[in-house]
Amino acid sequence: MRPQIAAANWKMNLTLPQAEALLDALLATSRTTAPHQQVILAMPFPYLPLAISRTAGQSHISIAAQNCHHKPSGAYTGEVSAPMLASLGITHILIGHSERREYFLEDDVLLAAKLDIALEHGLTPVFCCGEPLRVREAGTHDAFVATQLRNSLFHLPPERLAGLLIAYEPIWAIGTGRTATAEQAQEMHAGLRSVIARHAGDTLAATIPILYGGSVKGSNAGELFSKPDVDGGLVGGASLDAVDFGRIVGALKQA
Ligand code: 13P
Repeated sequence: MRPQIAAANWKMNLTLPQAEALLDALLATSRTTAPHQQVILAMPFPYLPLAISRTAGQSHISIAAQNCHHKPSGAYTGEVSAPMLASLGITHILIGHSERREYFLEDDVLLAAKLDIALEHGLTPVFCCGEPLRVREAGTHDAFVATQLRNSLFHLPPERLAGLLIAYEPIWAIGTGRTATAEQAQEMHAGLRSVIARHAGDTLAATIPILYGGSVKGSNAGELFSKPDVDGGLVGGASLDAVDFGRIVGALKQA
């Protein structure tokens, strides 16, 4: 079966002592029960080395960065590169989160370049996509999200998409408490899988985990994850609560 993944996105939260305490608590609560179940923790840059060392030997847990620059090195004061992250032992990276798109004006072309540099340095991208409320209300969300995929991913030959993770995060559901229904998530995930299949073939499309993000909590994860094309979640607010995140991990499909 495809990997089933609970991914935490801490965003820009927590001081070092708080991050250490939450990491320890998450390690205690985020227990998986099958090899296809995985946990990814995406945290602010300063905490990455700590997280790498605290999770050493825990093969079901991977550490992710939330962003990187699109160039490998150079005079870009304040930025962090993909080779730096790879040299720390980071394995995953969020690319295209809606907050990066909205507040830092990252467009599809820049995101394609970030995807390339991440792959070049052996990082697994978690490519985030999702529509704003006005697009959902206009009923054009399928085409909107398919275009995000086409513009940032489909310059890659199909075989390079293998191993990629996708997170569908409708912007109207992020941090709002308004979750997409399980049916809305399933419909979009199945649609994305068929868009990928047209580019890369059914076999490869069937292997790509597609996570849902947007107000996922312990109380709604089970219903969302029960859908056949929802392979877990990318979790913001609830990932700052170790007990609730543990419930989300516990809601991943068993088989
Ligand atoms: P919330 O779970 O807080 O809605 O955030 C979702 C998200 O943006 C994860 O990347």
